[in-house]
Amino acid sequence: MVGHGLVRGRLTFAFAQDFTVFGGSLGRAHAGKICKLMDLAERAGAPIVGLNDSGGARIQEGVAALAGYAEIFLRNTLLSGVVPQISAVLGPCAGGAVYSPALTDFILMVERTGHMFITGPDVIKAVTHEEVTKEQLGGATTHSRDSGVAHLSCADEASCLRAIRELLSFLPQNNTEEPPSAPSDDPVDRCAPELDTLVPEDPTRPYDIKTLIAYVVDEGYLFEVQPDYAPNIVVGFARLGGRAVGVVANQPAVLAGCLDIKASLKAARFVRTCDCFNVPLVTFVDVPGFLPGSDQEYGGIIKHGAKLLYAFAEATVPKVTLITRKAYGGAYDVMASKHLRADLNLAFPGAEIAVMGPAGAVNVLYRQELAAVGAAERDARRAAYVARYREAFANPYRAAELGYLDDVIVPRTTRPRLIAALRMLRNKRQANPPRKHGNMPL
Ligand code: HXC
Repeated sequence: MVGHGLVRGRLTFAFAQDFTVFGGSLGRAHAGKICKLMDLAERAGAPIVGLNDSGGARIQEGVAALAGYAEIFLRNTLLSGVVPQISAVLGPCAGGAVYSPALTDFILMVERTGHMFITGPDVIKAVTHEEVTKEQLGGATTHSRDSGVAHLSCADEASCLRAIRELLSFLPQNNTEEPPSAPSDDPVDRCAPELDTLVPEDPTRPYDIKTLIAYVVDEGYLFEVQPDYAPNIVVGFARLGGRAVGVVANQPAVLAGCLDIKASLKAARFVRTCDCFNVPLVTFVDVPGFLPGSDQEYGGIIKHGAKLLYAFAEATVPKVTLITRKAYGGAYDVMASKHLRADLNLAFPGAEIAVMGPAGAVNVLYRQELAAVGAAERDARRAAYVARYREAFANPYRAAELGYLDDVIVPRTTRPRLIAALRMLRNKRQANPPRKHGNMPL
């Protein structure tokens, strides 16, 4: 079934597959209807929501079914960044019924009934003799926590559809529009005294960045995307002074907020989604660096971390960054630093910006000297060097002096300062050099 209607008063196109007819599988006519809907949505400049419940290409139709999917994939790709495309996975989805959602902006899965795999358990058993259940192979938990394919896992169909409606409320109808505003009773000049003490002075003590975000955004509400995947970085939509923003935040409560492969992929994708749909980016930074280790290196942290770097650098939406505590090494550069064209860079007074943390730096700089003395003397000298390093580098004032920070702010004023920054950037105009397209390190 295909059609259009209103979601909170805004035109939206939708298709829904019927599993009771050939397992929802896609034949030529089925594909033709979806393609017609997609073409219309492009011309009308409105989002497309797909309710997927399909065994993939209809086996009986052979190449005509494969052609049908390819026609849909082509449109998914050409409409990417033009109109929002959202996929709900309500039932067992295989083959093309997962590749089409994979090309869209968001995938929401319903727990227990929604499954995604390129081929189902029966085919796997026949080909590789592996026995695996539908749930293990491609259930909502698998894809929202482990693979990162899904952006949200929903308890039932009703909550899935509610989440889609809400997601659409943060997005414009198409790439030529701004996201809609939502008036809020939350005062724009509201200060939060709790923020003055929320971030522990000891850089090794964790705190929950979501608490900080809640003190800052309208009504304390964050619509978190991919909450269960790479929880060491938090991404999601919120509003500041009624205006939709994309929030990207290191999470010191998980893995000390390190950037690893999964966190880089999650955040890079979200940054690009915001950028293509004109959603300003607000970045909260507390990051000790990239996660070191052979697992990460063998997994390609170099190219995956580069994706986040690329995404932030390329983004031309308003970019406001706040360093709440640590910003060390390459991760300082990556997390929407001034050097990547962030418009306004702020820091709390306790922020530390340095090539690495004091302990690591002292070990590198004074290794030979420290090795040459006895244990008690070594500890004393190390403590003195750490204190000296901290005073010289581990504060925000050197970066401010160099113009890499625009201001060091009183934490309680975070909300009014961010809202003022976004208002100042309301009509921001910036373009990248003309080119066919960049070559992101995929
Ligand atoms: C035709 C299909 C079908 C398909 C399911 N059915 N998939 N008919 N083409 N692709 C039919 C079944 O024959 C059955 O018909 C009914 O739908 C329900 O299927 P069941 O298997 O009974 O349901 P269930 O146990 O819930 O399992 C659902 C399923 C499984 C996991 C989706 O059917 C399955 O594995 N199907 C094949 C999936 C697959 O490998 N697809 C890849 C297609 S290739 P009756 O008459 O008995 O009710 C593809 C390529 C696209 O899509 C390009 C990719 C890049």
